[in-house]
Amino acid sequence: MRIIDLRSDTVTKPTPEMYEAMRNAPLGDDVFGDDPLPQELERLAADKLGKEAALFVPSGTMGNLLAVLCHTQPGDGAILEATSHTFVFEVGGIARIAGVLPHVVRGVRGFMAPSAIEEQVCHGDLHRVRTSLLCIENTHNLAGGIALTPQQVETMASTARHHGMAVHLDGARVFNAAVALGVDVRALTRPVDSVMFCLSKGLGCPIGSVLCGPKEFIDKARRQRKLLGGGLRQAGVVAACGIVALNTMIDRLHEDHTHARLLAERLSQIEGVQIDLSTVQTNMVYCRLPQKFQPETEVTFQRGDVVVKAVAITAEQVRFVTHKDISREDVERAGEVVAASLQKSGD
Ligand SMILES: Cc1ncc(COP(=O)(O)O)c(C=O)c1O
Repeated sequence: MRIIDLRSDTVTKPTPEMYEAMRNAPLGDDVFGDDPLPQELERLAADKLGKEAALFVPSGTMGNLLAVLCHTQPGDGAILEATSHTFVFEVGGIARIAGVLPHVVRGVRGFMAPSAIEEQVCHGDLHRVRTSLLCIENTHNLAGGIALTPQQVETMASTARHHGMAVHLDGARVFNAAVALGVDVRALTRPVDSVMFCLSKGLGCPIGSVLCGPKEFIDKARRQRKLLGGGLRQAGVVAACGIVALNTMIDRLHEDHTHARLLAERLSQIEGVQIDLSTVQTNMVYCRLPQKFQPETEVTFQRGDVVVKAVAITAEQVRFVTHKDISREDVERAGEVVAASLQKSGD
């Protein structure tokens, strides 16, 4: 059976260079502060994203939660886009663990208009919370993998700053955004106070994300990471992959974007499949298919001994994600398999 796994870019396996780096990693104990590679990774990440300091964390979810914990006080409010990952898919940690009230703004393709942000700002008078944080997502996953431009990020961030709020960027795929827009990633991170990006997605690492921001904020986040159980010991085994990823895996992301576009074009030619091609800007393809699905479940399409895997995000929307372990030939084959399998189910 040949499986073309397009469920997510999280399914990627380490590269040969990553396996080599893991094997040769000099190790210490990162909680004691003497594991060299997490520190090297943190320096490299902070430098690449133009921030003072960084913290290696086990997951993007933990990185976002740490940011909320460190930018707010329990009982504050935070503004998030209504379909943002932090609001929709992070088990409500912002409310449950950070004790922060989410205020949601319905964005347009991930962009929250200044007036919509301002409508949600509360200044902590007798009856209200103090809204102390704005969270932005780039690329915006549920909007289709949309890459928000530096101008859009700056517009949202300056609105928040004007009201004394901090700004956190969920940049799980911020390098995809930078590559798609042809800009230095710093153009997307400069307007925000903190940014989390994932190593474990398009960059191909097995585990890990990095939270970047001012030194004082990162010192605080290190302590909160321990509180959440995220202090890792021989973290260098996985940080080794992160270093390889930052040095070698960013520039190739455009291949994933080309593959996503090709897949979208192929799928859009199938009768009954609806895709807004203008949303296919990075490595994701969201489409509507003729049948309904159980949300949040795997969807498979089969033809002969080839299986294509995707994910139903909602009952109507299926998502395909390209990544480093998917070739052009896989994409072409996937298009044929989906077409044949929908044709069969329509017969
Ligand atoms: C936009 C976005 N933010 C955060 C996360 C969370 O990352 P993790 O799965 O590492 O917790 C994801 C995961 O898919 C994501 O797509």
